[in-house]
Amino acid sequence: MVNVAIFSSGNGSNAENIANYFSENSDINVVLIVSNRTNAFVHERAKKLGIPSVTYNKSDFADGSAILKTLKDYEIDFIVLAGFLLKVPEAILLSYPERIVNIHPALLPKYGGKGMYGDYVHQAVKEGGELQSGITIHYVNEHYDEGNIIFQSNCDVLPTDTPEDIANKVHKLEYEHYPKIIEEIIKNYFHKNCAN
Ligand code: GAR
Repeated sequence: MVNVAIFSSGNGSNAENIANYFSENSDINVVLIVSNRTNAFVHERAKKLGIPSVTYNKSDFADGSAILKTLKDYEIDFIVLAGFLLKVPEAILLSYPERIVNIHPALLPKYGGKGMYGDYVHQAVKEGGELQSGITIHYVNEHYDEGNIIFQSNCDVLPTDTPEDIANKVHKLEYEHYPKIIEEIIKNYFHKNCAN
C-alpha cells in the first residue's frame, strides 16, 4: 500500500478528483490532505471523502518539522501538490526525494514562478497572445515551478477565449491526466526502489 498526501491551498477540485480515482485502486490511497488555509474549500471536500485534513500556518511551512512529523505519523510515502501555493519546506524536500510532484496550469517554463498561480496564469497566457496553453506535471524542488518536467499536455487558445475559457480547458486536462500520471510515477518509483 502506498499512502499519498495531497497539499492544496484552495478549492481542491484536483484533490477530490485524485482521491476518487485512487479510491478504486487498492495499492494507492489518499490518506491525508494538508492545507495552509483553514477556510479552504478543500476541507469540505475532504470531509465528504472521509479523508482527514489538517492546516498549518506560514511559519509551520517555513520550518517544516511539525508537518514532517504529521507526514510520518500518517506513514506518507508520496506527496502530490494540487493548487498548493507555498513552497514545500526543505525538511520535507529532503525526506521525499523524487516523491513530490506538482501540476502547473500552463506550459512551463513559460508562465511559471512566484505569483503565477490559478487565474493569474490564464490571464497572463491571454495577454501574451498565446495560441496554446496546457498543463505541466513536474517534480518539486526548492524553486517555484522549476523541478524536472515529467509530462505536458496542451490545448488550443482561441482569440475569442477568455481567461475563464482557458481555465476550463486546462482543468479538463488536469482531471484527465493528473491521476494517471501520479499512478505511473508512483508505480515506477516503487518498482525501481524495491528492485534494488
Ligand atoms: C489548478 O489549476 C492547479 O493547476 C493550479 O491551481 C488550480 C487549483 O485548482 N496550480 C497552480 O497554479 C500552482 N502554481 P483546484 O484547487 O480546484 O484543484
